[in-house]
Amino acid sequence: MTPVTPSPVPPSPGSDPVGFEPPPYPYDRLDDLRKVADTLEGGAVDLSIGTPCDPPPAAVVAALGGSDAERGYPPSMGTPAFREAAAGWLDRRFDVAIEPGRLAACVGTKEMVAGTPHWLRLRRPGRDTVLYPHISYPTYAMGATLAGCRAVPYRDLDSIAAPDADRALCLWVNSPANPTGELTDLAAAAAWGRRHGVPVLSDECYIEFTWGTPGRTILSHGPDGVVALHSLSKRSNLAGARAGFYAGDPDLVGYLSEVRKHAGFMVPGPVQAAAVVAFGDDDHVDAQRDRYRHRLDLMAAAMRSLGVECNTPPAAFYLWVRAPDGDAWALAHRLAAEAGVVVSPGEFYGPDGAAHVRVAVVQPDDRLELVARRLGVPTD
Ligand SMILES: Cc1ncc(COP(=O)(O)O)c(C=O)c1O
Repeated sequence: MTPVTPSPVPPSPGSDPVGFEPPPYPYDRLDDLRKVADTLEGGAVDLSIGTPCDPPPAAVVAALGGSDAERGYPPSMGTPAFREAAAGWLDRRFDVAIEPGRLAACVGTKEMVAGTPHWLRLRRPGRDTVLYPHISYPTYAMGATLAGCRAVPYRDLDSIAAPDADRALCLWVNSPANPTGELTDLAAAAAWGRRHGVPVLSDECYIEFTWGTPGRTILSHGPDGVVALHSLSKRSNLAGARAGFYAGDPDLVGYLSEVRKHAGFMVPGPVQAAAVVAFGDDDHVDAQRDRYRHRLDLMAAAMRSLGVECNTPPAAFYLWVRAPDGDAWALAHRLAAEAGVVVSPGEFYGPDGAAHVRVAVVQPDDRLELVARRLGVPTD
């Protein structure tokens, strides 16, 4: 596939080339839809951004306030307790043993996704290409742009052109995937990376939300050449606290954690203390899974009531819905006008997503039931 961003052009002496202009932030483009949805009684129900709405466990919130960890600088890599808790969770939930020294904290995973190509490029300046799934979370492409790299989307591993593989700094995989909810063959991704000498960065922030098969991590296929990214944002409804970690290949984790220490990335001490409690508990995750499962079913029924084909996904908490005539903006407008919901047009996730909308089931049950009632869908 063709790169979506060109290589940076070196400035010629004396010229004043045009620099980077941040594009409009995707979700800021939904204001008109919000206004339309807001005209319905009960107001707009925003299902555009995948931000959790349910409370984190009380013990986690208590740890935030009672850690006594706010005075000094926290370790950039994460406290020993943080790293042990994260490693313990991987072991307990996914049967993967990682030494806490091969794991480091990040400030939620978005900054890590956006920043890692830049750090990798400093180390391997001869490589200038970031490979990422063609329908995906927009920050993979943005991270390439911010590093002055080519952002090259791929449909599947076999379709990656040899010259792109030769220039690749890293390959992103995302399983379960945002926005499609699909699961990827992580063994194949790890093998591809090893064959081509390209680090595979595996964004696994939805790993706890699979609906028929157990969650899987790339780390099950060995750490060589791979780094898995995990987040407490979705797992424990802690998106506002900003806590995640990355783990895997000792050389890559060692390099990234050293660079990030120099650059001053630190998860705040109280957040690290809260993360220890969150990683130690699975009951709240099981309860959250039940909530999302119920909401997916309800919103899929709501879509079908409009004559739109809609299946629930294998994983994650998004419905990826094809617009009947391929016009996603038209479907988004219809959903705003008739159901009072705001959804994301699929072009936010790449040109190949342009015929779909993404529906994030991240509003409380009573708000989703309001949507269902507006469409005449039973709610029990
Ligand atoms: C695929 C994917 N990766 C990473 C993130 C970032 O999550 P956070 O920075 O809260 O860990 C998101 C958030 O929606 C996401 O969908």
